[in-house]
Order: sequence, then structure tokens, then C-alpha cells
Amino acid sequence: MSWKPAILLLTLTAPIWAQPGAPTGLRTEYLVNPEVVDVARPRFSWVLEHPERGQRQTAWQVLVSTSPAVNVGEVWDSGRVEGAQSTHVAYGGKPLESGQTYYWKVRWWDSRGTASPYSAPARFSMGLLSPSDWKGKWIGGANQLRKEFTLPAPAVRARVFVSGLGYYELRINGKKVGDHVLDPGWTTYEKRVLYTAYDVTGMLRQGANAVGLILGQGWYGARAALLQLNIEMDGGKRLEVFTDASWKARQGPILADSIYDGETYDARQETPGWDRPGFVDVGWQAATVMDSPKGVLSAQMMPPIRVTDTIVPLKVTNPRPGVYVFDMGQNFSGWCRLRVRGPRGAVVRLRHAELIYDDGMLNVENLRTARATDTYILRGDGNEEVWEPRFTYHGFRYVELTGFPGTPRLDTLRGRVVHSDVKPHGGFAASKPILNQIQRIILWGIRSNLHSVPTDCNQRNERMGWMADAHLYTEPTLWNYDSAAFYANFLRNIRDIQGPDGSVTDTVPHKYGRRPADPAWGAAYPLITWYLYLYHGDRRILEEHFEGIKAWTDFQRSQASDGILSYSYYGDWVPIERTPGELVSTFYYYYSAHLTSRIAELLGRKSEAESYSKLAQQIREAFNKKFLNPDGTYANGTQTAQTLALYLDLAPKERRGAVSSRLRDDIVYGKNTHLTTGIIGAKYIMELLTRQGQTHLAYDLATQTTYPSWGYMIENGATTLWELWQNKTGPAMNSHNHPMFGSVGAWFYRALAGIDPDPERPGFERIRIVPGMVRDLQWASGETETLRGQVLSRWSRTADGLRLEAAIPVGSTAEVHLPKFNWQQIEVSESGRMVWKGDQFVPGGPGITAASQTRDEIIFQVGSGRYSFELTGR
Ligand code: BGC
Repeated sequence: MSWKPAILLLTLTAPIWAQPGAPTGLRTEYLVNPEVVDVARPRFSWVLEHPERGQRQTAWQVLVSTSPAVNVGEVWDSGRVEGAQSTHVAYGGKPLESGQTYYWKVRWWDSRGTASPYSAPARFSMGLLSPSDWKGKWIGGANQLRKEFTLPAPAVRARVFVSGLGYYELRINGKKVGDHVLDPGWTTYEKRVLYTAYDVTGMLRQGANAVGLILGQGWYGARAALLQLNIEMDGGKRLEVFTDASWKARQGPILADSIYDGETYDARQETPGWDRPGFVDVGWQAATVMDSPKGVLSAQMMPPIRVTDTIVPLKVTNPRPGVYVFDMGQNFSGWCRLRVRGPRGAVVRLRHAELIYDDGMLNVENLRTARATDTYILRGDGNEEVWEPRFTYHGFRYVELTGFPGTPRLDTLRGRVVHSDVKPHGGFAASKPILNQIQRIILWGIRSNLHSVPTDCNQRNERMGWMADAHLYTEPTLWNYDSAAFYANFLRNIRDIQGPDGSVTDTVPHKYGRRPADPAWGAAYPLITWYLYLYHGDRRILEEHFEGIKAWTDFQRSQASDGILSYSYYGDWVPIERTPGELVSTFYYYYSAHLTSRIAELLGRKSEAESYSKLAQQIREAFNKKFLNPDGTYANGTQTAQTLALYLDLAPKERRGAVSSRLRDDIVYGKNTHLTTGIIGAKYIMELLTRQGQTHLAYDLATQTTYPSWGYMIENGATTLWELWQNKTGPAMNSHNHPMFGSVGAWFYRALAGIDPDPERPGFERIRIVPGMVRDLQWASGETETLRGQVLSRWSRTADGLRLEAAIPVGSTAEVHLPKFNWQQIEVSESGRMVWKGDQFVPGGPGITAASQTRDEIIFQVGSGRYSFELTGR
């Protein structure tokens, strides 16, 4: 009986405060459980969970093991490490072994010193780290390759590493391995070739097995594959299977494949069972050993391209005899899945386009030379045949079907949405419908154009990593999609094409456009690096690319004279009013020098920081000397010229007021509240107006529905962003899926939802929340999943004031700005507790550490947690 009081005592003295939760959202090099990593010290990130506000991490411990349970960290036990770092924590254990899979877990201590439980384990697998780990040779000779092998015992662990250029499909024992398509990602093959890995333990069996490869030419223009399958069996025996001259090759049913032109597939050429053991391979030749591509093999550390969605067509019409036109209701990237039954040898054709004519027929004029045609020749065995192409993709909304035996139905075709599988991790919405419609076409524009590189368009004979397009839509992509790894890869692609003179190219990989890049295009190098730092606090990315960025700045310096960089090919591309190219080039030359200095400073490289800051200063003086007119306009006075002079504070302080009013007057009175900019001005003008306290004017531009405007695209039925402000449909450059005007998507989050990451504490460690209460906007909401956890700002007008909800990740802090309207008496409560009355801060709301006011705002300093502010007044 005597034990009872003891238990009671224990219960009473147990801590009454909330306990830290186990970390979630574990990532290795930005990725969730990556299949292939080839950096020596991968970096870990985790999200902290705590029921209590204002919490932060004071220490952490990571265990890394080769066993999935991670009972001990025999590979790395960090021990308890003091500190708040929960993102980009570099691995610090024993050297990681080639091909090995590792498991890790983490726990943390909160500000009271209470330890959390350990997280659930995460894993990552290493790539093949040394060239000698690849035992095989690149082989080809035909587009189908096969090999049989025997396993004397059941496999306990099997991983296959594979690269197939341009594209491969890997099959084992009759099944496709994994769910990647159009793999691997496109790189400068002379510099770097991506490979990926799959765990195939469950696909193998004791006895006879078969591996098959199907190859497409993709961007490589030829077909070759390298494979290494490492198998561990029961009892510890090992077997390696790899590509070499012992493989068999054959020209399979894919008769032709081209990204632009489409794929032709003759089902009569199928050889059922070719990817299974026991197949009699008469007529197959020995595979040809090919020259290896020159580039180094590099792990594909980014989300692969996948089929992410299936679209049911809206309707099918029959504009001419034998011609059927399907409307998918949405412009997107991908292809169709066809269902057909008919006679052997019947030829069914699918032609893809963005547009139709009034008579319902396909309009392919803006595709230029891309034929965008898939052809399927029927097997005709009486069964239904289901087919989709493998090594092409199209940008389309409409599909023309000809040669179809019988009458097609709606379910004859399905749209298959194909792109780099970056997961949506954000959301923006607002009370004004046009904004949601624009957000929608931005998202479809982005999805359609993430194809292992950020492309310009998805339909005509381009689909290139045009660098200005790329940097202009990086920010909206980072807000909306889990895309950091995608861009980290793109930066490696940029480094790959950099010349010894520091020059970069208009497109990356370099196929179209020039070397050196137009300075506004080349700016993608410093800018995308900077965005990854700003949004994810990634310092290593700064370290990795500092020399490259500096070399690009130096290259521009070598081309400049007296601080002016005059060469320019495109400038503020596709504008209504043209801005002199040399102004745009000099702006980006300044921007590069400025970022080079800033990055040098962050990396502690003092003398470089100073010398590039000096260079920037010289460019700035030259810019004003050359372009500033006595009347307060820049150059020819376009909106873009004024904007670029102000955006980075190039204009002398005492002139900024005048330049700003010229800009405002031109927008409001000169152009009846319309933009005249191209893609470059369109990004910076919105941000600039907001920074100047004129979000209402930027809002008027964003919600404009007459030409030229984003809303005008909506009014004209756009389902993705257009290349031009004009609604054109002729045989010229007028793509209807070009994401470069999508920069406004970042402005939605920043200016309207009101979330701003602070560059001084990047990666959302410090955040400003400023609800964008403008004009008739009744509410707006933005949320994004950062490496540290969810950030959210959701505000709405109430009958007598404002309500704001905010979510701040553990370890982050925010400054929350609430407007004072013109009230004399203001009350603010937070989750029902008064925190501001009249002119006074009323302490007591947990997590709120301080409050202050300016003439227009009340500003709260808050720690992590979820907050709900109510503002009322008289
Ligand atoms: C592309 C653009 C690109 C431009 C260069 C075009 O063909 O589609 O988006 O930036 O060329 O001016």
C-alpha cells in the first residue's frame, strides 16, 4: 500500500508545460528519402514541432545507421550539439560508402532543455562514388536491349544504377522499374550525365531473371545506356549485372522518337516476353559498345519527371469526316493515352496543338517546325490496345485524332500531365476572383515548364532553359512548389556551361541563343543562387557558386566600357514600349556586381566584398551619367527604364521622388493604368510599387482586365500564361504557355498575403507579415512550406476591423504589421486576449515579445506558433 503516495507525488511534480514534438519533414539535400546522393557530406533538415509558442531549438542530436531501425548511430552519432540549426546540418560521421543506404533520425531540446522524442527514421542512399564502381560499358546499337542472368539464391538487397541517353525505360522481369519518365534530366552531356538508382530487391527472384532497356534519343540525339545492378543474396553472396557486349539488341516497336515531332509506334513489332527470362531472342544482335558520353556521371538529386495527373477531355468534336478534335480544357505538358480496337496495321494519328480555328480544326501555326504528332499502328489481335508514347512530349490543349477505326468516344483519350515532379507546397487565394484565375494560369504555366530544366515554353521547337525566363519565374516556383533541389541542379547546369572567360549562355544547356548570354539572361546565375539563399538559407550554394558568379561579373566587366555594358540582344523582351537594351544590360551588370559583393561579404571574403561594392558604385555612377535626363526620366522614359533606375536604388536619392512620380503618372495618366513593360519590367515594377507604399497601384495593374494585362489573358480564355501581352494566333512567336510573365505570382504572396522573408535572416528565420489590405480586397491568404515548417498569413476584413492568422515555424520570429486605419482608439486582441489597447502594449499574449507603433501601423514581435489577431477601433 505504501507505493500509492509515491505515484501521486510523481504525477504532481511531472512538468506541466508542453513537451517538444518529434521532428518531422526530414530531408537530405532538400529531398525526402533520396534514392541517390553523391555529396560527401549531405546536409540534413528537419521541422520542429512544439505545442507552445515562442519555442526554439537549443540543441540537437542526429544518429545515422545502416540499419532501418537506427537504434544506434554507428555511422554517425553527433552527440548532443548545442545550437539552433535545424536546416542544412552537414553530415559529420564516417566516410559514406558508395552504393550504401543509410537511415537517420534526430531529436532536439527546446528552450527549457526538454528533449523531444526521436523522429521517425528517414533514409538516403549513396550513388556510385567512384568511376570504377561502374563495371560496365555504354551500349546501344538499337532501341531495345536485354540481358538474362541467374540468381543462385534469393536477393536480400538489390539496387540498380542507370543512365540512358537521351531517355531510358528500365524493365525487370516484365515490369517497368520505378515511375520516372523522360529520365534522366537534361544536362550538358559533355560535362555531366545524370544517373539514378532504384531499389529492385522485390523485383528479382531466385533463378532466371531478365533486364530490359528501351531507349529514346531525347536531347542527346543518339541512344546509349549504362547500367550497374548490384545484388546481395541470402548467405552473403553477391552478383553484379552490368551493360556490356553480352547484351542483346534489337530495333523495337518505337520506329521514331523526337521531343518536338512525336513518337511512332508499331505494335506489330512487339516481341512479348522480351523483358522476361526464357525469351527466345532469335533475330537479336549483340549490343554495340558505344563511346561514353564525355561528362562525369552525377547523381540525379532532384525530383524526376513523372506523370502527375490524368485529364479527362471536356469534349470531342468532328469538324470534318474522319477528323476528331478533343478539347482537354487545359493547356499542359505531356501526351495522351489512347484506347483503340481495330484491324492489324491500322494507323492512328494524334496531332497536338494549343489552339483551334473557328471551324474547330487544329491550329498548329505557332508550333513552328515541331510536328507534335504521335502515331500508333495497331497490333489488331481483337483486344483493346492501350498505348502512350514514352520519349516525346507536347504542349497542348487540343488533340486531333485521325485514322481511328470507328467512332472515338470521350474515353478514347486521356491527357497525361508530365513534368518534373515538384510537389505543390504552397497556396495563394484572395477575395478577388481575377487574382485566383491568374494564380491558376501561373501554376499551370510553371508545371508545364519544369522539365528537368526550367523551360521557356512547352510546345514549339524550343523548350529551352532560356535563362531570363528561368530567373523571372524562380520565385513564384519556390513559393508554390517544393523546387529547391530542382534549382540546385539547374545551377550546376549553369556552372557546366560557363566558359573559361566567365561567359555563360542564353540557354542552359546551350542549344539556342548565344554565348555570351544577353546580360539579362546571364543574370540567372547570380539571381537563382541568391533566391535559394533567400528562401532556404542555403550557404553552401553560395560557396559552390561564388567563383562562377564572380567570373560572370568579371566577364561583363571585360565587355563594359566606362561602367556601361552596351551589348544586348533582347533587353526587356516582348514589351509594348521598348527600353534601350544597354540600360537593361547595365542594370543587370550592376545587379551581378552587387550580388557578388553581397555574397563575398556573407562568405567572409572581405576584400572581394569591397572591390565588387566599388565596382557596383562605379556602374551606378555611369548609369546615372548616361541615362538620367534633366527632367527626371531615365533614357526614353519607359516604365521599365524608370523601374530599373529605382528598383536597386540606382537613382540618386534626391531624384528618386521625381523618377517615381514620372513612373506613376505614366502608368495612371499616360496608360490608363496599364503596363507597357516586357518581361523584365513586369517583375520589378510590381515589387517596386509595393516597396514604395503603392501596393494599391500595383493591385490595379494586377487586376486589370483590358489589354495589356494578365487579366486580359484570362478574359480571352487563357489556361496558361502567354508569351505576349497580345492575343496572337498566327505563324509566329506567340506561345500560349510561356511562364516568364509569372513573376507576379511571387508578388501575390509578398504584397497581398503579405509574407516577406528577411534577407538578413534568410530561409524564413525571420519573417515580416504585412497584410496587403488594398482597395476592394476583402481577404487574402498565402501559405508555403519552408524547410523550417509552414509559414502562413491569412487576413480578412471584419465588420469593424481586421482579423489576421499567422503561422510561424518553431525557431523563427516574425514582425507582424497591423494597419491603424485612421482610428483614434485601437484595440487588438490575440486569441481573445487583449494585447493592445488605445496606445499601449498589453503584455500577456504568449509568444508576443514586444509591440511598437508608427504613424500608420502597430507592430508586434512574435516568436513561433499560430496566432490569431483581431483588430477593432474607432
Ligand atoms: C524564347 C523566349 C526567350 C527568347 C530570347 C524565345 O524564342 O521563347 O522566352 O527568352 O527567345 O529572347
